[in-house]
Amino acid sequence: MMVGITLLLTGVLVSGILLHKANQNTAYVSTPSERPNFIIILADDIGWGDLGANQPGQRANNTPNIDLLALQGLRLTDFHSPASTCSPSRAAILTARYGVRNGVTHNFAVRSVAGLPLSEVALPRLLQESGYYTAMIGKWHLGHCGPYAPTSRGFDYYLGIPYSNDMGCTDVPGSDLPPSQPCSAGPQGDGPNPLPYLCVTVRICPVPFFIFFARQRKQPYLLYVALAHMHVPLAPPPASFSTNELDGGRDVYAASLQEMDDLVGALKRASDETNRDNTLIWFTGDNGPWEKKCQYAGSVGPYTGTWQTSRGGGSAKQTTWEGGHRVPTVAYWPSRIPANTSSHALLSGMDIFPTLLSMAGLKPPVDRRYDGIDATDVLLNGDQTGREFLFHPNSGASGLFGDLQTVRAGKHKAFYITGSAEACGGGRGTQLLHDPPLIFDLGVDQAEATPLDAGAPEYQEVLGKVTKAREELLWDIATDQSVSTADYTQDQSAAPCCDPQRASCRCPGPAGG
Ligand SMILES: *[C@@H]1O[C@H](CO)[C@@H](O)[C@H](O)[C@H]1NC(C)=O
Repeated sequence: MMVGITLLLTGVLVSGILLHKANQNTAYVSTPSERPNFIIILADDIGWGDLGANQPGQRANNTPNIDLLALQGLRLTDFHSPASTCSPSRAAILTARYGVRNGVTHNFAVRSVAGLPLSEVALPRLLQESGYYTAMIGKWHLGHCGPYAPTSRGFDYYLGIPYSNDMGCTDVPGSDLPPSQPCSAGPQGDGPNPLPYLCVTVRICPVPFFIFFARQRKQPYLLYVALAHMHVPLAPPPASFSTNELDGGRDVYAASLQEMDDLVGALKRASDETNRDNTLIWFTGDNGPWEKKCQYAGSVGPYTGTWQTSRGGGSAKQTTWEGGHRVPTVAYWPSRIPANTSSHALLSGMDIFPTLLSMAGLKPPVDRRYDGIDATDVLLNGDQTGREFLFHPNSGASGLFGDLQTVRAGKHKAFYITGSAEACGGGRGTQLLHDPPLIFDLGVDQAEATPLDAGAPEYQEVLGKVTKAREELLWDIATDQSVSTADYTQDQSAAPCCDPQRASCRCPGPAGG
């Protein structure tokens, strides 16, 4: 199943882009004043340290194509996913609003009846309304039923999986690691790796595959590619499985990373051949590595969250330690972004929305408040000034979903709550409240190992700034008339159940047919 998706995605991805080439030769002539095309590539569960360009000489380089994007473009070293888990991160990217405003504070499930609240306006809708062709390929995870599906939220075209690739079973047992439940297994609990997601009462449902074709293709376009890579299960080429037996699986991750990198390379080449000088490619991640998956998880690089890990528990995905949300990020636009540059401007995935609108000459609707900033000057003009503050929502499993209890202020970072995710091997630290907050200086302490002494003048100065910023934001949210509430209700009938004739998208009947 997963192997199938990967191969299919590769093919469709490239042929989809190449169709634009045909268009360009006939109806569209590129001029500098033309509105730009946007390709947003969102990797899943990728680590900051997975990008070769972020860790020169540190380890085997598995990302030559993304490194080439960086060499010919701009590497953003202090760029953060808006949350440290899937649905909230994706919702905030597409709305430029924190989860406490857009309503999406934790993940949707296979049986979720709803998704990103319909009161929220997503980026593709605004670009679509202004004449962009909008396409999405890959993982959506913002609601798959009826009006919540991608083609109802502003995409003309969608091909992909409705949620994560581990939320179901596999038709090809032995093709992925860690192994998914085989679809042919009996009732839930009978198989070697039972999953809680049921399609009908007695059977586990495979991950379905959705395709919506739109006839019209045109320039300019938005292509949002939300790769299933590097989320487990990993399904690298079969050759890497034999290597796996020798070294415990580390090479499986490397091979999957290379496969993802190849996809990015294919996109870049297709774009370069068609509309190189008028296309922005922006590569980033949805959150940090899923540490509890051990050798199948990515690398946080130097952002090890040592204060937490020394007290038990993981410090990556699902946490507000740097490993949870600092993601490898590159922007490439040959005619506009200076090559081989980097920026340490503090930015968030929420800034993609206002930046793209600005580049397209559009303004967002004024009936709501936004948390994203226009980063055009950082991308195009070498500006190193990013955000003054960035809040990291609680994405952990222990409640307080979406709470903005971790604050970045310049090079400092304050925690009003610390918490961990499950570590490799199962350890988990205790969630702790801190009043006054723990404050780290990331300028000298990337590992978040030793907080500042609360008596130091530096601490007091930062505390004053973050207290004020936090009070202002919480007041702004409390008085926001446009706050949405997501419906997290689950219902058996909401599990996707599409064409029973197609192995990639079918649901066995109650009798097991
Ligand atoms: C890219 O920049 C780095 C650091 O400034 C420099 O050492 C390197 O030679 C540059 N590479 C190219 C191909 O220009």
